[in-house]
Amino acid sequence: MIYTSCILAIESSCDDTSVAVIRGRHVLSNVVANQTVHENYGGVVPELASRAHVQNIVPTVATALKEAGVSPEDLDAVAYTQGPGLMGSLHVGVAFAKAWAYALGKPTIPVHHMHAHILAHFLEPGDPPQLPFLCLTVSGGHTQLVRVNGPLDLQVIGTTLDDAAGEAFDKMAKLMGLPYPGGPEIDRLATEGDPLAFAFTRPLVKGLDMSFSGLKTQILHFLQREMQSNPRFVDQRKADIAASIQHAILGILMSKLESAVASTGIQEVAIAGGVSANRGLRSELEKRRDELNWTIHIPPLSFCTDNAAMIAMTGAIQFEAGFSGSITDAPNPRLPF
Ligand code: KG4
Ligand code: ZN
Repeated sequence: MIYTSCILAIESSCDDTSVAVIRGRHVLSNVVANQTVHENYGGVVPELASRAHVQNIVPTVATALKEAGVSPEDLDAVAYTQGPGLMGSLHVGVAFAKAWAYALGKPTIPVHHMHAHILAHFLEPGDPPQLPFLCLTVSGGHTQLVRVNGPLDLQVIGTTLDDAAGEAFDKMAKLMGLPYPGGPEIDRLATEGDPLAFAFTRPLVKGLDMSFSGLKTQILHFLQREMQSNPRFVDQRKADIAASIQHAILGILMSKLESAVASTGIQEVAIAGGVSANRGLRSELEKRRDELNWTIHIPPLSFCTDNAAMIAMTGAIQFEAGFSGSITDAPNPRLPF
């Protein structure tokens, strides 16, 4: 399928305001305005996030258009993240996108954030995966195994029963006293540590579903126990603890991904979402390519964490399939897949 439409997309589901312009599969601009106001709070403060989106949205749209060399009249449609995400954050992007598109006389395309993480694989420079493929989607709010029969025909075949993988990284990093978001911190520390320094048991969960909350409790108790006998334990063994935590989380993800490959017979495998930036996960996937002959798809780092280019690609595919939204479409923090 050859895509040709010119789409501007707005992503505001959490704490970053992002605007992208694409033509077909080609990214003309992908601007991300990171919010730093949350750094002192150990997590995203929803009210502060919405206020920062309000401040960022107009200049970010202007920058994205300028970088792309595209004027608003050239656009075929305006796509935006409808959900899931934080209500106040989504509201800003949805209200802006619909009002702006309406004033320009352009159609709007509401997009599902997790669908977009997967369809980031359709953006250049890579070639889209062969269909059907499996995608392990791992972000701060979701962890899913998805069978992708077509870009608009997706089937969730496994999901976390409690925390998302990114949330697990962040919560365990917090237990270690690392700054938010902890995922990239654990990733960085893990490169210097021994993943087998400390062993944690893997939860027994049936089928392709996953669970991370038991691991979190295990690590909490482990750290409390060790700190009792040596209050400097975390400081002294930071890298080994981080590497062992990462090893435990990746063990859960990779064993379920292997089961999904075995049960579907599909060896075309992709990863997506913020945690797909993790170096350990990327190299685990490369190992399966070399040892088990999987065909693997790892997104460039700029398409792993939240970005509007993936929203634009999903919007383009929906638009070219004849779908467009209406002025009454509302943000939905729990938008079903
Ligand atoms: O997809 P994303 O940017 O936002 C959501 O849709 O949630 O994912 C954010 C999550 C956070 O939990 C963050 O800690 C995690 O992705 N993350 C990482 C890495 N980079 C981001 N986790 C592990 N290693 C990384 N390098
Ligand atoms: Zn995301």
